[in-house]
Amino acid sequence: MTNRGSIASTRLKPGLDDTDRHLVNEAARLLRAGCVVAFPTETVYGLGADAANPDAVRRIFTIKGRPANHPLIVHISHASLLNQWAREVPEAARHLAERFWPGPLTLILQRQRHVLDAVTGGQDSVGLRVPDHPLALELLHALGPEHGLAAPSANRFGRISPTKAQHVRDELGEAVDLILDGGPCRVGLESTIISFVSGEPRLLRPGGIPTGALEEEIGMKISPDDPLHPSMRASGGMPSHYAPATPLEIWPGEALWHHALALAEKEIRVAVLGLTAMPPAINNVLMRHFPMPTQAADYGRVLYDTLRQADAAGFDRLLTEAPPNEDSWRAVADRLQRAAVQF
Ligand code: TXA
Ligand code: MG
Repeated sequence: MTNRGSIASTRLKPGLDDTDRHLVNEAARLLRAGCVVAFPTETVYGLGADAANPDAVRRIFTIKGRPANHPLIVHISHASLLNQWAREVPEAARHLAERFWPGPLTLILQRQRHVLDAVTGGQDSVGLRVPDHPLALELLHALGPEHGLAAPSANRFGRISPTKAQHVRDELGEAVDLILDGGPCRVGLESTIISFVSGEPRLLRPGGIPTGALEEEIGMKISPDDPLHPSMRASGGMPSHYAPATPLEIWPGEALWHHALALAEKEIRVAVLGLTAMPPAINNVLMRHFPMPTQAADYGRVLYDTLRQADAAGFDRLLTEAPPNEDSWRAVADRLQRAAVQF
């Protein structure tokens, strides 16, 4: 028996040992019984249910507090299973799957008839991805090739995605039947989502793989989502999402410290997520610097954890420095913008 909300403390070692396998088998048993299990991926932790079990899938929505018509990604174990879930797979989509899976890429394709409305939010499309994490892949193998894991990020609707098992426990606790701990997520931001539903590739969400790398691979331009007919009900596409509880502002590097100081002088407690070093003249008990990595991939890996820490430390305001306007920074810039829009 597993205590609800308990963390199965497998720590990521090179390869999986017998303890890991035992826990993965236990997770697979729970999933087959209709339970909800949180599991690590390379991007963020997912909250998974057997994609063929409508009651289990509905529980995910209840636990997250997510609107029932927002679709979930189905995680599968290999690109060769694409046709089991999607009825039409354009050549470019297949190419991306073969090149980037396992990895932080989600493809939106026309669904096969058996894919549940509970998973797709009633849409005729399905989101598919092969996660690049040994525990997630082992879990999928334990479930068997005909099974998929329907899983959104394991956070409450609108909040920051979890990048550590403890984040899931803190936020969802006993609502989850089991939390598999695979250590901190390597990518730290969600997958890049490309839709092929209209035939041509469209970017629904920037993420773990820069769009430029995908375009280069297929020799096609990937257009932004159609603003007049946005892809329906993609929650990560809502203006306010991925949000900390503390109000967050984005400032250009030149103005960042000046503004932070002005707030601190008004006795507003401020956390600064800076890319540039804190000027030595500034030293104020009302202000704390969270120095951020200057490489996009490193920044992405620690962003959510840093936002959680700053949130928990009780600051009145979070100030972030605007990232460079470059393709590699696009996912970070996107998440900061959505985090900055207040409810
Ligand atoms: O990295 C990730 O993608 C993580 C890990 C756990 O795989 N998952 C994740 O799931 O971020 P979620 O549900 O938090 O975000 C997935 C986004 C949502 O905005 C959802 O609406 C959209 O993908 N989505 C899923 N299926 C879709 C579909 N058929 N059409 C349009 N959008 C879809
Ligand atoms: Mg999410």
